[in-house]
Amino acid sequence: MRVVDFLRTVRDGKAVAACDLTEFVQGISKGEIPDYQATAFLMAVFLKGLSDELTVALTLAMRDSGQVVNLANVPGIKVDKHSTGGVGDKISLPLAPLVAACGVPVPMISGRGLGHTGGTLDKLESIPGFRVDLPTDRFKSMVRELGCSLIGQTGDVAPADKKLYALRDVTATVESIPLITASILSKKLAEGIDALVLDVKVGRGAFMKTERDARRLAESLVRVGTGAGLRVRAVLTRMDEPLGRMIGNALEVRESIDILMGKGPADTTELTFALGAEMLQLGGKAVTPTEARQKLQEAVQSGAGATKFEEIIAAQHGDPRVVREPDRLPTAQSQTPVLSPKTGVIKTIDSFALGLAAMRLGAGRSKAEDKIDPAVGIEILHHVGDAVHKGDPLAIIHHNGPANLEDVQSTFAFSSKPVTPGPLVIDKIGA
Ligand code: URA
Repeated sequence: MRVVDFLRTVRDGKAVAACDLTEFVQGISKGEIPDYQATAFLMAVFLKGLSDELTVALTLAMRDSGQVVNLANVPGIKVDKHSTGGVGDKISLPLAPLVAACGVPVPMISGRGLGHTGGTLDKLESIPGFRVDLPTDRFKSMVRELGCSLIGQTGDVAPADKKLYALRDVTATVESIPLITASILSKKLAEGIDALVLDVKVGRGAFMKTERDARRLAESLVRVGTGAGLRVRAVLTRMDEPLGRMIGNALEVRESIDILMGKGPADTTELTFALGAEMLQLGGKAVTPTEARQKLQEAVQSGAGATKFEEIIAAQHGDPRVVREPDRLPTAQSQTPVLSPKTGVIKTIDSFALGLAAMRLGAGRSKAEDKIDPAVGIEILHHVGDAVHKGDPLAIIHHNGPANLEDVQSTFAFSSKPVTPGPLVIDKIGA
């Protein structure tokens, strides 16, 4: 294949041979394709799109650019969940042990937080001693013996994605449905899973701001994932206001434990059950959503989900006592309330701005090399639709350094009329 002919064909929006696309991606991984040609490809796909068939080829080539975990000797249908990311989205933490407790193996490889959204690995690492850097063999044996392991991506998972993502970031080619689809799925396929549930977030705190765009992404993920051999379902969920009560790493672990104990906030509990129900159905442990929800409810009531979380924490060198004694988690030195400047009904909470406020407190990173403070964050006391009086606490800032109250207060907007928040789960795709 002559690379310039390949690029001309992609540029003209015509079909290239899947084998040429695979060869091109292999060339990128081996360092044989220079960045200017890789970038020309990205911009051509951004402008002209890519057929589903070629997006499958791109996904598989990116998956095969690095290590692919083989879980063939783990019995059962292995199911994972991926979220496109939101503020206060800690759902992986209660979801993975709960689903594993219901008998579905969950091999979960997660990422770190950057910018306004947090990352599962940072949350887990706020549990004293918890290690996310387990060797692949240990990951596999945990999935086989405990039904779940929660680890971080090694440098060897889909390295072609790492390279292409870095180029997309600096060439204005991130917001492309086929490129996002291949990027997400290549990494998930490398886990060795059989099925995947995608939580595609919509709204001001999400990657996709409109329902139309989120729906297009969800549909593409389901079609391409299916073409790549996965069983996939996507759930479109609202991310206009922060999810649950807590933003910040150890604070989100506390809320996750509350969900496992049946004492979580209504929204994060509902989302855990909605996604868990999809996972149980894909994993062959329930036929209907009602049956799946019953099993999840039983795992909460019997304590099986909480016990599974303790087992996972212990197996990953963490202190499992945090599940029954959450005060063992890191706690910030100061808690400062943020008071309502008005009497009225909360109309919106800018989750994007609130995520950035939490990041500035030290809960997240603005650059990949920044250090985070596990204890700090923001506790939300009211949600959209709640009536408050001037002077009522809206939130509590958990901080170790100075706290900027205005940073948090300004994320709340008020109305004099009643406000009804939209539904949390907007639609399901691929069911
Ligand atoms: N998340 C990813 O992993 N890749 C993208 O391209 C966008 C979001």
